Amino acid sequence: MSLFRKKSLDVLLAQAGDAKGLKRTLGPISLVALGIGAIIGAGLFVRTASASAEAAGPAVTLSFIVAAIGCVFAGLCYAEFAAMIPIAGSAYTYAYTTLGELVAWIIGWALIMEYALGAATVSISWSEYLNALLGGAIPYEWSHSPFEHVNQVLGSNISQFPEGLARLAKNGILLLSDTEVKSLAPNLHALVVTHHGLVNLPSLIILLLLSLLLIKGTEESALVNGVIVFIKVAIVLIFIAVGWHFINPANHTPYMIPEGTPGHEGFFKYGWGGVLGGAGIVFFAFIGFDAVSTAAQEAKNPKKDMPIGILGSLVVCTILYILFSHVMTGVANWKEFAAQGKEASVAYAIRTYMTGYSWLATAVTIAILAGFSSVILVMLLGQSRVFYSMANDGLLPKVFSDLHPKFRTPYKSNMILFVFVGAFAAFVPGSVAGDLTSFGTLFAFVLVSAGVWVMRKSNPNVERPFRAPLVPFVPIMGILICAGMIIALDPHTLISALVWMVIGLLVYFGYSKSHSKLNHL
Ligand code: ALA
Repeated sequence: MSLFRKKSLDVLLAQAGDAKGLKRTLGPISLVALGIGAIIGAGLFVRTASASAEAAGPAVTLSFIVAAIGCVFAGLCYAEFAAMIPIAGSAYTYAYTTLGELVAWIIGWALIMEYALGAATVSISWSEYLNALLGGAIPYEWSHSPFEHVNQVLGSNISQFPEGLARLAKNGILLLSDTEVKSLAPNLHALVVTHHGLVNLPSLIILLLLSLLLIKGTEESALVNGVIVFIKVAIVLIFIAVGWHFINPANHTPYMIPEGTPGHEGFFKYGWGGVLGGAGIVFFAFIGFDAVSTAAQEAKNPKKDMPIGILGSLVVCTILYILFSHVMTGVANWKEFAAQGKEASVAYAIRTYMTGYSWLATAVTIAILAGFSSVILVMLLGQSRVFYSMANDGLLPKVFSDLHPKFRTPYKSNMILFVFVGAFAAFVPGSVAGDLTSFGTLFAFVLVSAGVWVMRKSNPNVERPFRAPLVPFVPIMGILICAGMIIALDPHTLISALVWMVIGLLVYFGYSKSHSKLNHL
């Protein structure tokens, strides 16, 4: 049996119309909101400052434009497929009809990195922000994985420590890394207590709540997502409008980091190279627009509304990102972001420079928490829908496609996913998962772009309610830009991704190939 056997388009389109399947409840506004729900999160609120300090300076606005251009090529290809084949599996399903079963499996497996690991990563950030909002009230043990620990200095006057370290002191508590303890604490005769993480409980709680919401129904989930999107977009707009008056034009000159700036040696660290380096960092901020396509089977009118949902959310977020980063780097100087904690960058800019608006700093933190919740929600939704399609095709056990008798949501899949993502979030440090999310996404973008091109050749006459313009130029650009961004990821990420893909192949040859429903056709 060929590894490149394909699922026929007619079978797929018949599945899309199955009245006993997922419920069609989402209109164009819900779909755009779903996209914005998944898109605006840590990428904007945390990575803008990092990209600016590490690579692009005030020109981080241009980094957002470059990353957006890369996404638009892939976005146009997603829109063509999602309108043509409105099935829950998104990139996985598109690959099944164009590039064959093995490639489809590989992409389905890679999407787990994007959605499941993405949800886990963002839930870990959610836990950090909650703790920050509560003034560090959640004990370290209950908000960190067992692989993390921190050294707390007791009974010592913080002013004894060098200036750079004293700024780490939060609420009078000084936390040191192992190296700092070795080099400093003995000399200062300070007492050091090491706290070890046990389980990241807040991450587990938010994942559980959102999983229950998804089980209850897609319509209810979309409603909650809509409320969250309203809050986070409102606060982003307020920040832009208020911050605009506090822009200091001197902070925008020079606009790019000049050559020879200390600490900015290397092609991707200054000038136009820095803009590209920054684009790689803020790419994370765009991840999620493709998740809209996983809800295609729940859209009321997918042919018309899928392109609106995918491209609409991308356009809205791009505009917000450019304005937001323009204000951020105008209010505070980009150099300050190197020292001022990435997580706290927005609150720092407001508290330090926007006199009289400290309430906005708290509001931003709440918006960030809300924003993270919707990112997790849509990622979990996306993952369960990809599993749903894979199980329907026999490549995964049937339990992933069982629908709840009343809610008609894949509830068992949602529960299994909670256990899997929850285990990751509760016991694994956040840094491990973040870049793998980018890998999974970019990989899907490359294959979806290639798929559009292949499909135009193999099935030129199928009805395409939305046509990506300038084929093959658009798919080729999508492939090149996204492949370029994959190559630029750090080698550890690439190795971990490779290990993940090898495990995927073992599962495919050990289970999926022999269980595929194509065996019975
Ligand atoms: N785009 C999402 C975020 O920035 C993943 O959090």
